[in-house]
Amino acid sequence: MSAHMTASLAALCVTVDCSLGEAMRRLNETGGGPLLLLDDEGRLKRLVTDGDLRRMILDGSDQNALLASLPAIVPVTAQMNTPLAGLQSLFAAHKVSAIPRLDAEGRPWLLERRDFGGPVLLSTPHLGDLEQQFVQQAFDTNWIAPLGPQVEGFERELADYSENGHVAALSSGTAALHLGLILLGVKDGDRVYCPSFTFAASANPIRYERAEPVFIDSETATWNMSPAALERALSRDKAAGRLPRAVVIANLYGQSADMDPLTQLCDAYGIPVLEDAAESLGATYRGRKSGSFGKLSAYSFNGNKIITTSGGGALCSDDEELIARARFLSTQAREPAAHYEHKVIGYNYRLSNVLAGIGRGQLKVLDERVRRRREIFSIYQSVLAGVRGIEWMPEPEGYFSTRWLTAATINRECGTCPGDLVEALKVVGIEARPLWKPMHRQPLFADCEYVPHGENHSVSDELFECGVCLPSGSSMADATVTRIAEQLRYLIAG
Ligand SMILES: Cc1ncc(COP(=O)(O)O)c(C=O)c1O
Repeated sequence: MSAHMTASLAALCVTVDCSLGEAMRRLNETGGGPLLLLDDEGRLKRLVTDGDLRRMILDGSDQNALLASLPAIVPVTAQMNTPLAGLQSLFAAHKVSAIPRLDAEGRPWLLERRDFGGPVLLSTPHLGDLEQQFVQQAFDTNWIAPLGPQVEGFERELADYSENGHVAALSSGTAALHLGLILLGVKDGDRVYCPSFTFAASANPIRYERAEPVFIDSETATWNMSPAALERALSRDKAAGRLPRAVVIANLYGQSADMDPLTQLCDAYGIPVLEDAAESLGATYRGRKSGSFGKLSAYSFNGNKIITTSGGGALCSDDEELIARARFLSTQAREPAAHYEHKVIGYNYRLSNVLAGIGRGQLKVLDERVRRRREIFSIYQSVLAGVRGIEWMPEPEGYFSTRWLTAATINRECGTCPGDLVEALKVVGIEARPLWKPMHRQPLFADCEYVPHGENHSVSDELFECGVCLPSGSSMADATVTRIAEQLRYLIAG
């Protein structure tokens, strides 16, 4: 039996010197097979069903008869590079429940029809029982507007949950970051520090204000902003008289950045922090909620986030005046006059009352969703335990990650790379993604400064080159996660 096989595949494989009795026991234990009969070289000779075993008995074979007596029958097989559509039509045409897929040496890997029930996506919305009730209240009271009692309730409840004094519910996390920068006074020509290893929405709003992003690298311990790089950038820029107007700190994949040294540095230089907690709602750092560390902090309720309002975001702060100003700017900056008086540029960034209703229902199940995402991470961890070369995103002591996305790095010794893994999983309908491509490598930001973790050590480049994130939606069944992990195990260890 080749070393790359997963436990469930190994249980289905038998060799030609296997007895009829043993094959019957295997079928029993594995829930009906079919078994894969391998020749001495480990190549697939044929499939063996319980019908084949019954026919051997009817033909007079006893329990000790060897499967070698079965004639070789070339089964329906797929190749490693058969695309998803091709696999689906093989299942449909042959009406079989499993098809062996052969690698270049003719060794099989079993694909089961149940794996093709539909694509498995990275992170899908997972609604609870209460969202519809809150939405119905909005309908019943005809509050189908970008304001109303559901928005007020959502803001209050999110403020309580996130340990922030005040919250403005907005149309997206990007809108929250944009208003956050405006409220911190960012304007044309200002420098704003931002992590390089993040989604583009952390950086784009800096450019909305015609300010200059300066990208700061990550550290290996958290994958988030490197305090060492931040310190170098601040002391260098202070000496040059060009300190940034603000620092955006993002918390990726459900885990906080190392907020103590980062905020201490920013405080020491008098620079305010805008916390991008779009991916970390529900996480904690040293016992305090992620998204409560910035002078202003932003959450996202996009459809792929741990909870969603289909699209939405929030800007949070302990400073009541800042949040009142955010509400004002996000509703077109209308001065209190009947004739629509305007003194500053406004935005249409408010969350609708209907969507806030979804958010209220989702907040009630947030802790449950966090628990489930962490459970999904532990299934990956246990199925892939002992596989050399795969390392999970670290969760240092004092941090509590939501594991919004299970993220890992794949060492070169695995003989595969994230790009190949993502493609191979796509073939079987599983969506995986490389880790974020650093902003300093994006054509859009090619002219921006970048400050690496060490003078000659760029952590974000390393993470991008060897990292993947895996399907992590809280509605996935254990069996789905196990199947994904087993396929990964085959691809990495095979
Ligand atoms: C790190 C980060 N920042 C900001 C955003 C923007 O949030 P939204 O999609 O709600 O605009 C996202 C997610 O989309 C994100 O992952």
